[in-house]
Amino acid sequence: MAGIAATLIPGDGIGPEIVEAVKTVLGAMGSPFDWDLQQGGMAAIQQCGDALPAATLDSIRRTRLALKGPLTTPVGGGFRSVNVRLREEFALYANVRPVRTIIPGQRYENIDIVLFRENLEGLYVGFEHYIPIGDDPHAVAVASGVNTKAGSRRLIKYAFEYAVKNGRKKITIVHKANVLKALTGLFLEMGREVAKEYEGRIEVNDRIIDACAMQLVLDPWQFDVIVTTNLFGDILSDEMAGLVGGLGLAPGANIGADAAIFEAVHGSAPDIAGKGIANPVSLLLATGLMLEHVDRLDLAERLRAGISRAINEDNVRTGDMGGKASTQEFAAAIAKRV
Ligand code: NAI
Ligand code: MG
Repeated sequence: MAGIAATLIPGDGIGPEIVEAVKTVLGAMGSPFDWDLQQGGMAAIQQCGDALPAATLDSIRRTRLALKGPLTTPVGGGFRSVNVRLREEFALYANVRPVRTIIPGQRYENIDIVLFRENLEGLYVGFEHYIPIGDDPHAVAVASGVNTKAGSRRLIKYAFEYAVKNGRKKITIVHKANVLKALTGLFLEMGREVAKEYEGRIEVNDRIIDACAMQLVLDPWQFDVIVTTNLFGDILSDEMAGLVGGLGLAPGANIGADAAIFEAVHGSAPDIAGKGIANPVSLLLATGLMLEHVDRLDLAERLRAGISRAINEDNVRTGDMGGKASTQEFAAAIAKRV
């Protein structure tokens, strides 16, 4: 049986190593995807002088589905973030970041929260400039955020639809409408409007961002689904990854009208690249989200159960989880369990 066509971008640093691990595990599940291998990031610059080659874009246009290893982005100068270019190119408006407890016995048990972050608007639009005073060209810095009714509604609607489809009960709209009355007030207004369409099906409340950040530490179990603007979502999703043991265990999905791109939340980890010790769980869980996206919930559940059993029953773990296994030994252990 032919698999589902999808683009595979190994990326930089530990990217190729954790992508190998994904292939090993998926191989044991009957290889549900037919990969079209493409380059991106520094690896692509070395091969063809462009961090985001036309062939890679063409491939995603064709498959509308991609799994992406982390890409190294030079700080300050150098080329523009390929991640941001991909979001814009394919209008990937929803950034979905679920966190779930995988390893019991940590600071928080039974965490299960999904965060939806608006991915194209807000303060991330980069409308920034300086105003000079006297001799100082950088005396004043100004940034403008942009939220649109259409953009907010699209993301919020996606979150509600996800909640209904996945049996979620409650959505919390996170904002700062008490101070940023226009920018995030508009988002809250759209949230309340969309909520009316789901009355009786999904419980809705709202929280101010700072109070939400505190509540996530004090009582994370009160949250089910969180929907918020770009910058707040960026910050809260890292905080939420911390609830379940860090970035190495957190997957992300970028969903758009034209394509969906799945990735680990962590970066290319240059400090451990090439050593064969990276933890592939984040990218494996991203692969799980990708399976859900193509309506293979059965395979997604099998994959998550396999990861959990290898870690918790076989006690095979990479160094960051307190074990001694290499990336490939860990992948082989998961492959046995799926
Ligand atoms: P990083 O996430 O790559 O690494 C932070 C720390 O976590 C390092 O000590 C690293 O060894 C460790 N770590 C990360 N992933 C791990 C894994 N799977 N297993 C075990 N340990 C792991 O963040 P950093 O160092 O700030 O960024 C490195 C590069 O990655 C930068 O060029 C950055 O721009 C890029 N980056 C790319 C992202 C993407 O493509 N989505 C996301 C974040 C960063
Ligand atoms: Mg971030």
